[in-house]
Amino acid sequence: MKTDITNFEDIVLLVDSFYELVQTDDLIGPIFNAVITDWQPHLEKMYNFWNAALFGVPGFKGNPFARHAPLALQKQNFERWLQLFNKTVDTHFEGAMAEDTKKRADIMAILFLSKIENMKGGAERVIV
Ligand code: HEM
Repeated sequence: MKTDITNFEDIVLLVDSFYELVQTDDLIGPIFNAVITDWQPHLEKMYNFWNAALFGVPGFKGNPFARHAPLALQKQNFERWLQLFNKTVDTHFEGAMAEDTKKRADIMAILFLSKIENMKGGAERVIV
């Protein structure tokens, strides 16, 4: 039986399983693998990121927008990212926090994409 995401161990399982899928994905795997040669520090950073996002535990240090800006990411990259993320959550967990985690990932993906578009001065984007 699946349980909800309740502690740091669950976050480790979520992050490890997610990046296992990411690394072999035909669309976004190569983007990650071009930048990340040593996965362990990235995984540890992401444990802290999600621990802060879901449980409010301090410990994440970074600048996600600056890191993603040079990667030339597009909508379809974020859609695949979200697909894999949601699949990972659903494979291992169920419950209110699991649902909330998927919602937060969705919001962050939209935010990242829109910020990246803005930084490029994307012509389709009208800001009023
Ligand atoms: C297709 C979409 C994405 C790709 C290809 C991608 C790729 C990457 C890569 C390559 C790094 C490492 C950068 C570096 O070490 O220089 C990174 C870092 C990171 N990513 Fe993503 N990412 C994507 C979407 C997301 C989303 C939606 C989130 C949030 C929910 C996210 C959260 C983070 C965080 C927190 C870091 C660490 C940032 C830091 O070190 O300051 N990523 N990502």
